[in-house]
Amino acid sequence: MSKTASTAAPDLLAIEDSWGEFVAGRYREGKSEAEFRNYDAAVVPTVAEFYRTNHERQTLEFVLGKEREYFALNKGKMTIWEAAEFLNTLVDGHPRWMVLTGFIHDLGKVLCLYGEPQWAVVGDTFPVGCAYSDKIVFPEYFAVNPDKGVAEYQTQFGIYEPHCGLERVHMSWGHDAYIGHVVKDSMPEEALYMLRYHSFYPWHQQGAYGYLLSKHDEEMLPWVLKFNPYDLYSKGAAKPNLKELKPYYDDLIAEFIPGQIDW
Ligand SMILES: [Fe+2]
Repeated sequence: MSKTASTAAPDLLAIEDSWGEFVAGRYREGKSEAEFRNYDAAVVPTVAEFYRTNHERQTLEFVLGKEREYFALNKGKMTIWEAAEFLNTLVDGHPRWMVLTGFIHDLGKVLCLYGEPQWAVVGDTFPVGCAYSDKIVFPEYFAVNPDKGVAEYQTQFGIYEPHCGLERVHMSWGHDAYIGHVVKDSMPEEALYMLRYHSFYPWHQQGAYGYLLSKHDEEMLPWVLKFNPYDLYSKGAAKPNLKELKPYYDDLIAEFIPGQIDW
């Protein structure tokens, strides 16, 4: 496994750039509700189309299937270096595990090398199997999601219990859930929250789904928030020099995730 995402999935990277720009602008600090709406109305067609497909097809059934498929971790063994195409970002002045988290947070995008379409790899994430929050970007696109016609999935709690905790909640399928699962035995819990929920913008930026959260989720939220600037930063154009930083990351990887792991 030594392929790079850029040669294998050109259209994923194309949407990544425009989607990244959209998300970075949408969640810039201090935006009012009205500004959100204006910003959404001016969305470029490729990004709108992306969200339309994502919201249409991320059903509970789809997510359960993907969880069965990918959480088995039977895609083969790779070191972190074998899975990495380029660095995401360097985070100074943070615990070592957090710097490593910044580095690996988007590695779940290797999903595109397994043939997953872009709407099942990137994009803001949201719970499936319960009512959609109107804080999710473009909620109107859910009108054609088959789950919309399943009454059980459209109540506030759906298939979940009040305050059951995010651990029990199936999130729309994408790179967050996958990388969080791949390193679940290697990284501290705070890092796993950053990895699993870094695209769950309706929660960490807009406070949606409070009724599903456990106390523990709320305790972990500050870590997810702390990570967000680095996620947004890594969507920018500047790419750090891989050669210069490699020894530094080699050291971190050796400490937390040495050798090959199951993908
Ligand atoms: Fe990401």
